[in-house]
Amino acid sequence: MKIAVVPGSFDPVTYGHIDIIKRASKIFDLIYVVVLDNSSKKCLFTVEERMDMIRKSTEHLDNVKVDSFGGLLVDYVNNVEATVIVRGLRAVTDFEYEMQIASVNRVLAEEIETFFVMTQNKYSFLSSSIVKEVAKYGRDTSELVPPHVSFLLKEKYAK
Ligand code: PNS
Repeated sequence: MKIAVVPGSFDPVTYGHIDIIKRASKIFDLIYVVVLDNSSKKCLFTVEERMDMIRKSTEHLDNVKVDSFGGLLVDYVNNVEATVIVRGLRAVTDFEYEMQIASVNRVLAEEIETFFVMTQNKYSFLSSSIVKEVAKYGRDTSELVPPHVSFLLKEKYAK
């Protein structure tokens, strides 16, 4: 059985992430989508909120499990007996950042492979930061994230 991990901060999950998870779920037998800490980001949503949003967004995918982890990605990958890390690539600008993560992970655990999936063109501009920026100023995010995420964003910024 081929197990893969789709890691990220998912603050919040977007249609771009969901596209990557869906495509990865067709390639691998089991996918763990794991919410991790990115030390350079301050998150708007709690880990539980982020996991719930991912769960709701992927409930139609039978082989997808949602989890969180407080340590290194490679340790999580080994804990769940996965062998592959899946990351989405939107544009050339992602490449340097992704190469750095993949290279660190290779130094930490040589046996784990990083697998890149290109996002659909229509999501190539999309990021969680863009979504938060749009929501913060009260604009509609329904083309960027699922309805339940749009709702929670409105709630967060109404406070
Ligand atoms: O969605 P993001 O913020 O680009 O995801 C980055 C993430 C969370 C995958 C990365 O920061 C990560 O793996 N964090 C866990 C700690 C770790 O393993 N660090 C070493 C590799 S950068």
